[in-house]
Amino acid sequence: MTDLRELAAFVHRESGIVLREPQHEALQAAADRAGASGTPHTFLQRLVDEVTVKETYFLREMQQLSEIDWYEMLARARRAGRERIRIWSAGCATGEEPYTLALLATQAFGEPAPVTILGTDISARAVESARRGSYRPRSTRELDSSTRQRHFVDARDELAVAERLRALVTFAQHNLVRDPCPPLGEPTFDLVLCRNVLIYFDGETVDRVVASLERSLAPEGELLLGAADTLCRGAGRLRVPKPVKAVKPVPRRSAPRKPAPAVASIPEPLPSEPHFLDGLAHLEAGNPAAAIDALRRALYFAPRLAAAAFQLGRAYELAGDPGAARRAYAQVLRTLEAEEGVNEPLLDQVEVADIAAAAQARLGSLA
Ligand SMILES: C[S@@+](CC[C@H](N)C(=O)[O-])C[C@H]1O[C@@H](n2cnc3c(N)ncnc32)[C@H](O)[C@@H]1O
Repeated sequence: MTDLRELAAFVHRESGIVLREPQHEALQAAADRAGASGTPHTFLQRLVDEVTVKETYFLREMQQLSEIDWYEMLARARRAGRERIRIWSAGCATGEEPYTLALLATQAFGEPAPVTILGTDISARAVESARRGSYRPRSTRELDSSTRQRHFVDARDELAVAERLRALVTFAQHNLVRDPCPPLGEPTFDLVLCRNVLIYFDGETVDRVVASLERSLAPEGELLLGAADTLCRGAGRLRVPKPVKAVKPVPRRSAPRKPAPAVASIPEPLPSEPHFLDGLAHLEAGNPAAAIDALRRALYFAPRLAAAAFQLGRAYELAGDPGAARRAYAQVLRTLEAEEGVNEPLLDQVEVADIAAAAQARLGSLA
């Protein structure tokens, strides 16, 4: 067990990924698979490869991507004296995200689109597969037939990205926790995406990585985090709106999203709010027992408050109680389903769909 704890600590140090005790059995299996042959260095690289979750597909979280203002971005690049937009997809897994961006840029500008896209991932295996650019139906399920015909070629039972899109994208291995940001030799970027990566990190690592991604932006550049990742940022970065009638959106560097369709406003101070804030503060201070206490109190006053149920799940995870965490996340999904999108927006900029996505991601990683 001590060895496994050391291995988990190594994985955390090297990659930012948190593996709690309930996941140690899986870690043991990963270590067995990784350790069959090779040097200690290759063993460690393979171990990180084994424990990273690489689920991804073309056009993922398309609502967010459809809000990219390609023309404005090109205008900004030109103001900076460049003829091409520069994009970084950090934690791109097997490449579907950067190729999706190449596709969207091509749809916006025609061919050849004035963009260069860098896709990076900690996993050497994922980067290799991204360079191959050939995908099974699971990855390409969201692509319509005209897109398939125009931008892909059949490769047996897979679809391969056509050369015109490939020409816009390069790949490199890069560790967000250990390596310089922007990656060595790369200038800053007009757009940085880091989606569904931070959900596997602890709060402190999330904040550190987000800060280094922000430093990788060109002036006026934008950072796009995944919906679920936004929820995993530290409490210090979560802005809680005052209980007044109109809440002004807080300006931020990340690209704005359209408001969720049916989110109720907060008419007057809620008794749940101080408990909720207490819970967040305890969670960030690494005190899960007190966080659980406060968040349960918040839910006593506001049983429909999915954001509190979500944070309760995180607190249970921190306390090493995955069963209770799963129940809390399941409650998030049930509440959101029953409320059909009506939920108090206690967390500024966090939409109901984001809470659902985050709960689903956590449930998946606890499965
Ligand atoms: C679930 S995939 C996300 C892929 C894509 N961004 C998306 O949203 O579909 C998460 C990826 O993050 C990568 N990752 C995890 N830790 C990392 C780190 N420290 N540095 C870079 N990539 C990392 C994993 O290898 C994995 O490929």
